[in-house]
Amino acid sequence: MKYSQKRVARLFDECVTGKSVLITNKITTLVKQTAFDSLRLKPNDTLLDVGTGTGKWAIQAAKICQNVIGIDISRKSLERAAQNARKEKVNNIIFSFGSFEEPCKILDLHLYPINKILVLYSFHHLPDELKKEAIVTISKFLHRPGRIVIGDMMFFDNPKKYQDRFKEVNYDGGETDFPAYTEFLIKCFRRLLVKIKVRQIHPLAGVITADFI
Ligand SMILES: C[S@@+](CC[C@H](N)C(=O)[O-])C[C@H]1O[C@@H](n2cnc3c(N)ncnc32)[C@H](O)[C@@H]1O
Repeated sequence: MKYSQKRVARLFDECVTGKSVLITNKITTLVKQTAFDSLRLKPNDTLLDVGTGTGKWAIQAAKICQNVIGIDISRKSLERAAQNARKEKVNNIIFSFGSFEEPCKILDLHLYPINKILVLYSFHHLPDELKKEAIVTISKFLHRPGRIVIGDMMFFDNPKKYQDRFKEVNYDGGETDFPAYTEFLIKCFRRLLVKIKVRQIHPLAGVITADFI
């Protein structure tokens, strides 16, 4: 199906209201934890979490670093994220509406000394051309030295060979999920002359770490 930001936002709103269910499993958790660890967060860091969802990882990050900004297109997820942060008594965190396409829709991200960016299981919703643009867009907020980490579905091999394993990474086969080939993502980063590291966790999922010096 064709990409529609509104449709994706509705889907994740529905996960919060209980109309849809967001499944987590061993592989997705491993991908997210590996990506989070790859950030190597430090007390002085300011993190931008793009596609923060209900804020689980952003809140975890806020307990380690100076400030965290989480943006998302699902307003219900953002409301839940703010509630979760209050419950955990975390107050160095801002949740705001914003997308890969228009990150500064509400909040001017240029005002923050962002030096780490996390993209966890949100990138695969974009078609490849938008992913290419998004990498350039988000890298412009990154103060140097800085790091972008993407942990998501990505194809290390022909996905047709792994149809019986789609569930392991939560791939819906192309309904709202458009994972890229890893090589494509690597090329997008190489254009920006950054140092990258790729870690395969599954034939259809992994982590990319890009260092901007
Ligand atoms: C599978 S959830 C992951 C949430 C969170 N990162 C986590 O790992 O727990 C994907 C999130 O990406 C968000 N998302 C999808 N497309 C987006 C876009 N174009 N811009 C910003 N966020 C987006 C969705 O609204 C959803 O909250």
